[in-house]
Amino acid sequence: MRIITGLQPSGQLHIGNYFGAMEPAVKLQDKGEAFYFIADYHAMSTVTKADDLRTYTKELATDFLAVGLNPEKCTFFRQSAVPEVNELAWILSTVCPVGLLERCHSYKDKIAKGFSPSNALFTYPVLMAADILLYDANLVPVGKDQKQHLEVTRDLAGKMNEQFGEGTCVVPEPLIAENTAVVPGLDGQKMSKSYGNTLPIFGAEKATRKLIMRIPTDSTPVEDPKPTDDSIILQLYQLFASAEGYEQMIHDFKQGGCGYGDFKKRLFDAYWEYFRSARERHEELLNNQDYVQEVLNQGANKARETASVVLTRIKKAVGLI
Ligand code: ADP
Ligand code: TRP
Repeated sequence: MRIITGLQPSGQLHIGNYFGAMEPAVKLQDKGEAFYFIADYHAMSTVTKADDLRTYTKELATDFLAVGLNPEKCTFFRQSAVPEVNELAWILSTVCPVGLLERCHSYKDKIAKGFSPSNALFTYPVLMAADILLYDANLVPVGKDQKQHLEVTRDLAGKMNEQFGEGTCVVPEPLIAENTAVVPGLDGQKMSKSYGNTLPIFGAEKATRKLIMRIPTDSTPVEDPKPTDDSIILQLYQLFASAEGYEQMIHDFKQGGCGYGDFKKRLFDAYWEYFRSARERHEELLNNQDYVQEVLNQGANKARETASVVLTRIKKAVGLI
């Protein structure tokens, strides 16, 4: 089974990205032949400064390796290091009805957020389909927000097979993390870089402590019981704490006698401890960026081998060869 997924280098990675995308990808390394890539072409649809793109790409590579991506087990590469993806995107665009793209929520959402309605943003799902079909992927783990893009991919694969013959493209299955809870942001909305409410995976100690200490709370006096429903502190704490630690905090919420400052301190400590070994690895990798580059280069070479076989098959099917 071949598994593929991509993450955009479009900002500092946060714990929502970690629990929603990175941790599941790390776990899936053992379940099949995994191809993971940094979707830098996609990020260009929203990241407009060259230096930002470079920085986010390096950070994503470093962070992903630090949290457990193992280059011995998976093929990790930059999307743009396999330019064949653009050739396939063009071929797919010839079978893609404009109406299919017009219905995509993500395009409308991004425009509503103020991004310029470029052709890249509009045809984003076609490039995404190319990412997947170029590797004959069977399984694509993605967050709920990408469900519709996977439907477009399956549609395009089906159209290719109808028009150019069965077996031209492998139709992939999505693996939607339905039961992965949406990680709440520090303000209670979904955690997202667009809302400025994120807790970074590898933030500096003082700064992240401050972020946690600033989580808004109600004015229940220290001695009174605190409401547990919809508590951001509890929801975040559950991600990092042991089962007993979490039960203890629920108990202390209900009991009264502990202030929010104390709960936030426990939350910070649990968060800090949770990423301790990843943070050490992160430090090592920051000091060894040549190694990170080497991993990506080798990954790209491996990815290109597969990509060129698949692209040749497709080019033959459509009459380009
Ligand atoms: P952001 O919302 O910060 O822009 P992205 O859209 O780049 O994040 O998301 C990258 C990946 O991380 C996607 O797979 C997405 O489902 C996942 N993800 C992002 N935010 C969260 C969250 N708050 N909870 C769970 N998963 C998330
Ligand atoms: N669109 C995905 C996201 O924003 C990233 C992505 C690009 C991707 N190409 C992909 C994910 C191919 C899975 C497969 O999260």
